[in-house]
Amino acid sequence: MSELTASSRQTPVERLFQPIKVGRYNLPHRIVMAPLTRSRACQPVNAPTPLNSCRYYAQRTSAALIISEATQVSIQVQGYTWTPGIYNREVEGWRLVTDAVHMAGGLIFLQLCHVGRISHSSLQPDGMLPVAPSAIKPSGEAFIENDKGEGEWVSFVTPRALQIEEMPYLVRQYARTAKNALAAGFDGVEIHAANGYLLDQFIESSTNRRTDRYGGPIENRARLLLEVVEAVVEVWQPDRVGVRLSPLGTYNDINDDEPETTFGTIADKLSAYRLAYLHVVNPALAAIEQRAEPDARALRMIDLMREKYRGTLIMAGGFDLDTAEAWLRQGKADLIAFGRRFLANPDLPERFRRRAPLNADDRSTYYGGGAKGYTDYPTLAQERGEEPKPCVDERWR
Ligand SMILES: Cc1cc2nc3c(=O)[nH]c(=O)nc-3n(C[C@H](O)[C@H](O)[C@H](O)COP(=O)(O)O)c2cc1C
Repeated sequence: MSELTASSRQTPVERLFQPIKVGRYNLPHRIVMAPLTRSRACQPVNAPTPLNSCRYYAQRTSAALIISEATQVSIQVQGYTWTPGIYNREVEGWRLVTDAVHMAGGLIFLQLCHVGRISHSSLQPDGMLPVAPSAIKPSGEAFIENDKGEGEWVSFVTPRALQIEEMPYLVRQYARTAKNALAAGFDGVEIHAANGYLLDQFIESSTNRRTDRYGGPIENRARLLLEVVEAVVEVWQPDRVGVRLSPLGTYNDINDDEPETTFGTIADKLSAYRLAYLHVVNPALAAIEQRAEPDARALRMIDLMREKYRGTLIMAGGFDLDTAEAWLRQGKADLIAFGRRFLANPDLPERFRRRAPLNADDRSTYYGGGAKGYTDYPTLAQERGEEPKPCVDERWR
């Protein structure tokens, strides 16, 4: 389960462990836990499971900041089976998670998400169609629960285009769930506008064919995101709100005709809100996954995000210790978020600090299931025979 490159033994790790102020919080270092959907919410209410989720997040509080898994802003929003919401009774479940994280000394933002067309009728109330900016079916498959109660991947369906009269309700869903997140004891919220979900579907030209004030020029396609930002900022104040974008990302069958104009404009507009941070999924992620050099377009986009966003920038996607350190050194980002490495290494900062080997992640346990591949990845402390830090209180037993 280990990996350590020879070269990583040579560069000193300095930047990753420099403190930084993000919004109103002083963070001890720059290693962030990226949002990770794990499809283990308890049924039928889609709340985090008291034992597992509390333990999972509490185990990872050595992150300077944890960003939670994507969390639904309404009953209409379920995109994958067994994912959590925060629009109703789930608030109490989340309260247990935030208490566990705080008890272990951590900081946690909730990722607010509307999946839009990345869903399936079987995940919607009364089998209704998922909603989207335009009625365009994504290619690919949705993760649903079949008749036997097992997870299954099935073709997406053609979504229903949202009526303009529905837009204020959408914004209100974010405002209401932002208030719920406050009640649940989170330290902030991240608005998910990345990876081909609803807000990204409005932003990018391939999924938005509207002719009203939410479609056409980028000023219109950015409108819903900015309305959501304004609603959420009113609840939380800007210095506890982040936004996630994925320029050049193609995940969930999405694409933009003029990505530099689109994402440059959005980064510029977001700067005006003085948010806690902008969180960008690395435009070079696809190349990194294929072990190829990033193309010129990706490199330009990375620079563009830095230039247009005048605030704290988190970058995520494909980083290891050396590349993270190098990006911070080169000033391309202020913090680095790690997804799969945090999933498999609850004590990632300690491992980085000691240049210790990393556990490899097990893809077969990403989504659904129980403790296996969720809360049983070993820490260095456990390997040394030390007792795990207490992170379970009486309420979760
Ligand atoms: C199992 C899994 C679940 C994910 N869930 C989310 C999510 O809920 N919200 C989100 O914005 N990104 C999600 N992502 C994307 C990650 O946050 C991250 O951007 C991606 O894994 C690339 O970073 P990495 O190379 O450090 O893993 C997920 C990725 C994985 C592997």
